[in-house]
Amino acid sequence: MSKYAEIESLALEIICTENSTHNKMQMLCDLLDQKLNHFNWTGFYRADNESRLLHLEVYTGEPTDHTTIPFGKGICGQAADIEQTFVIDDVSAESNYISCNINVKSEIVVPIIRDGIVLGQIDIDSNTAAAFKQEDQDLLENICKALAPYII
Ligand code: SME
Repeated sequence: MSKYAEIESLALEIICTENSTHNKMQMLCDLLDQKLNHFNWTGFYRADNESRLLHLEVYTGEPTDHTTIPFGKGICGQAADIEQTFVIDDVSAESNYISCNINVKSEIVVPIIRDGIVLGQIDIDSNTAAAFKQEDQDLLENICKALAPYII
């Protein structure tokens, strides 16, 4: 089994356990952080569609000041607004970007969508430029798809 297939299968096991969604999200952050060296900050935000705000739910990595992000603001806010995955190879080239840590060079944000509504997202920062490849995107999109039914 390839490394990414193994991580996906461990992630799907976590998602199918009897834990709360909050705990599943934390376990997923810990798993990804442990298995993938280029994941330097891994977190889940939940979306409030009435206020159009993202709220940080869980993370693995350094604490961040950006625990609430409006839709449209930063990479996270744009991914929530447009409901699409964002892969940013060089964060310094982005005008609509919120910096959490000066060491971050690249970022990926994958929205969690159910019935056309964004419920949240997974956000990963890397201290390596252009760290996120197609296999990362596929893994994270499959995790978000599997997690979507469990988000209330
Ligand atoms: N960089 C993000 C903000 C969240 S931190 O990476 C944890 C953004 O531009 O939306």
